[in-house]
Amino acid sequence: HSAARDAVTRLTRWADDFPQPGVRFADLTPVFSDADGFRVIVDALAACAPETDVIAAVDARGFLLGGGVARDLGSGVVAVRKSGKLPPPVLSQSYTLEYGTATLEIPAGSIGLDGRSVLVVDDVLATGGTLDATARLVESAGARVIGIAVVLEIAALGGRERLGKYPLTSLVTV
Ligand code: PRP
Repeated sequence: HSAARDAVTRLTRWADDFPQPGVRFADLTPVFSDADGFRVIVDALAACAPETDVIAAVDARGFLLGGGVARDLGSGVVAVRKSGKLPPPVLSQSYTLEYGTATLEIPAGSIGLDGRSVLVVDDVLATGGTLDATARLVESAGARVIGIAVVLEIAALGGRERLGKYPLTSLVTV
């Protein structure tokens, strides 16, 4: 993971007090916009779970990563959406975020997750609320979560403990 670590350390843009006072926001956009940066992080995430049937990619920056990882692995990819974007029927899971609450959704029934091995991918692990909700959502569709992979883990917010039952890989921990 060392090339990925270097790219993330060099290129991540940190924003204090965004989107709320007291929150320090990690924006990985400059890592993704760098050709080498994007390639090395996608490759490193794909190495986490080579036997994956489907990538579950979390709204919104996880979409970019998930597509790349799925292409690397030859797997399918599902976009895990913020609520209100998908027509019914949907499966829903609400969660508490570092700031506010939200609901995540995937299509119900039609996407063939039952019995499949799923790797959940996102950019940042903070409190773990988003990824915990995603894992539950995927499980509610009958799939097995074989791992969770993120680019950046903010250790002080306790996400790893919250996600304790799932194998978790983060390329960089701060
Ligand atoms: C950020 C990030 C993760 C989540 C992590 O997304 O991309 O998905 O927060 O926080 P948590 O571990 O405390 O749940 P955000 O909610 O900002 O949405 P966006 O990607 O659509 O901008």
